[in-house]
Amino acid sequence: MTRFQGRSVLVTGGSSGIGFAAAKAFADEGARVVITGRDADALDTARTQLGANALAVRNDAGSIASARELAAAIDAAGIRLDAVFVNAGTAKFAPFPEVDEAFWDATFNTNAKGAYFQIQALLPLLNKGASIVMNGSINAHIGMPASSVYAASKAALISLAKTLSAELLPQGVRVNVVSPGPVQTPLYGKLGLDAAALEATAAQILAQVPVGRFGKPEEIASTVLHLAAPESAFIVGTEIIVDGGMSQL
Ligand SMILES: NC(=O)c1ccc[n+]([C@@H]2O[C@H](COP(=O)([O-])OP(=O)(O)OC[C@H]3O[C@@H](n4cnc5c(N)ncnc54)[C@H](OP(=O)(O)O)[C@@H]3O)[C@@H](O)[C@H]2O)c1
Repeated sequence: MTRFQGRSVLVTGGSSGIGFAAAKAFADEGARVVITGRDADALDTARTQLGANALAVRNDAGSIASARELAAAIDAAGIRLDAVFVNAGTAKFAPFPEVDEAFWDATFNTNAKGAYFQIQALLPLLNKGASIVMNGSINAHIGMPASSVYAASKAALISLAKTLSAELLPQGVRVNVVSPGPVQTPLYGKLGLDAAALEATAAQILAQVPVGRFGKPEEIASTVLHLAAPESAFIVGTEIIVDGGMSQL
């Protein structure tokens, strides 16, 4: 398919995992893709895999100044956006009594505040009919121990999809969320758990997935592309859950 031929798409956190799978799928369908991330080497590798037309911009999704710089870099490249996948996110888990203000701020700065101000900075660059997709999580809906801050940050995105859609629809822009269940990506190595705890957590999660496996990044990317394409023009301010039934059955 070539649903994104002649279109430009930004994928934040496009250097790894779900973001890279989405960036690749957009590029394979003809889009000019802009990706972001903090790690320069990972960004370079991803950009090479996406082809000569792709643009990589180093950026910290937890910084409002960096959000504005990203918008300026896209503007300077003469790009106007037809879709944005607000995907860059951090997943750190900790039991409630151990959470301190710095932990809360690090998660909310990237996952919620950064997402909000990134979208605001991009507004002048959005084409009419543009679609914004945010990466949520089923953690917003289930009471998983130790996930309180992460889950709350993702719940904020589900709320933002509604309010921002209400404000942006007059410009023809809609906002939705894709909420994945467990997906096999490098994220799990970044949870802050040691190897034994990681293995135990993975086994616990797996036991809760009705389809009996983790999802693949491509399985989230296909929903992102659906929400980003005009074919989903009647889907506004809502969420699609892609979780192998984990939050549903
Ligand atoms: N994997 C899952 O099971 C799962 C489930 C539900 C939701 N999600 C959500 O999916 C999104 C992507 O996660 P993933 O599983 O694909 O993880 P991943 O493979 O670790 O990818 C995360 C991406 O985000 C970027 N990123 C993280 N913090 C950033 C920051 N402050 N500024 C700029 N870029 C940043 C990373 O690049 P750098 O590290 O180089 O900055 C990387 O490109 C996250 O929002 C996550 O919450 C994942």
